[in-house]
Amino acid sequence: MEAFRIVGGRPVTGECRVSGAKNAVLPLLAAGLLCGGEVRLEHCPRLMDIKNMLLILKALGCRAEQEGDSILLDARNADKHVMPRELSKQMRSSIFMLGPVLARFGEAEFTYPGGCEIGLRPIDLHLSALRAMGAQVREEQGRILCSGSLKGAQIHLDYPSVGATETILMAAVTAKGDTVLHNAAREPEIRDLARFLNRCGADVRGAGEGAIYVRGGASLHGCSYTPLTDRIVAGTLLLAAPMTGGDVFVRGARAEDMQAVLHKLEQTGCRLSVEKEGVRVRAAGRPKAVRRVETNPHPSFPTDMQAQMMALLAVAEGTSLVLENVFENRFAHAGELNRMGADIEISGRIAIVRGVRRLFGQRVASRDLRGGAALVLAGLAAESETLVDHIGYIDRGYERLEEMLSQMGADIRRVETEE
Ligand code: UD1
Repeated sequence: MEAFRIVGGRPVTGECRVSGAKNAVLPLLAAGLLCGGEVRLEHCPRLMDIKNMLLILKALGCRAEQEGDSILLDARNADKHVMPRELSKQMRSSIFMLGPVLARFGEAEFTYPGGCEIGLRPIDLHLSALRAMGAQVREEQGRILCSGSLKGAQIHLDYPSVGATETILMAAVTAKGDTVLHNAAREPEIRDLARFLNRCGADVRGAGEGAIYVRGGASLHGCSYTPLTDRIVAGTLLLAAPMTGGDVFVRGARAEDMQAVLHKLEQTGCRLSVEKEGVRVRAAGRPKAVRRVETNPHPSFPTDMQAQMMALLAVAEGTSLVLENVFENRFAHAGELNRMGADIEISGRIAIVRGVRRLFGQRVASRDLRGGAALVLAGLAAESETLVDHIGYIDRGYERLEEMLSQMGADIRRVETEE
């Protein structure tokens, strides 16, 4: 089993570069199934979730390859509508394929998707939107069977789900007639998907706002596209600065996509500079607690940065309150942080984080992707040696995290351990 061995206490100082966001690339790959020409995506990270998505596309009959940081997708010969059971079980993002497969073949067959263990992650919003667009949806022993030709519709989402918004956009662009989506998710990755679809010949307006308008009936061609950079990877690396008394510049970070995180970092007392090429964060003494960090859909504080922020607040001066409103079970990292000497009390969706002066090295385990990244940050700040187990979770969202950090002075290595 692989683990990260971290010797803490060294300031993380230097520059690194972020590539395309996993959460942008995955829906773009799914949307590629709708394109009648080659799609080329540049600056893509090499991650297990992306590799699995390419395997799914191949199983459907596409040509789908990643060479270095470029992905080439050609869906012209795709001819299958049944998703491979094992792959869709492993990856929640396989749900992204539902809209495009149904739109393209008039039928789709899926296994209930899995993914990170962060609480129940239902797909009812995806399914009810597809029903509203004319699909028949049946669920049978963990399989989801959809059929029907899609028509544009007026859809109101009960909750601005990122995935459901993406499913609807992908289903709507080639459907017959127009679609209006109310209470859509406003994450930057939604804007990116719409930009990509429009580049391929679709007509999507309003993405990034609460209401999105799609003119249906488009016939999509291919294109070359550079996905949005990863605001969560960027945010994680920036947090390494205040955690270790360092100074980090993340080239490619887009401040406009990270306002809520940068705002909180400012409240902890770090020095921020937003430059054309990226964002820089410098520590200024011990970080200060913040009154409240509350996760909510964009543009509020992202749930995908909650764990990393908690690691920072764990060593801040004073007490902070963290509220997790997006997922019901996303505090698994708190117990591990406490084993390193943190003082975090959980009550339902609320965490009370009483900052401590120092954390101590410990053997801890990742339970999910972002929680794992939080433990790495804690290890960088801790006294003595930390071993973070189950880093497979971390590898799902961070490409060679240890290399980026060690280039900036951290003492972190990937090692083999016994169970
Ligand atoms: C996406 C991101 C994930 C991020 C999340 C919230 C990708 C690949 N993943 O996940 O990293 O943490 O947005 O920003 O882009 N829900 C329902 N029914 C549904 C769909 C969602 O109840 O049909 C609930 C979920 O259980 C969750 C909340 O809505 O509590 C948010 O989920 P959603 O926005 O859909 O997240 P994902 O698209 O899965």
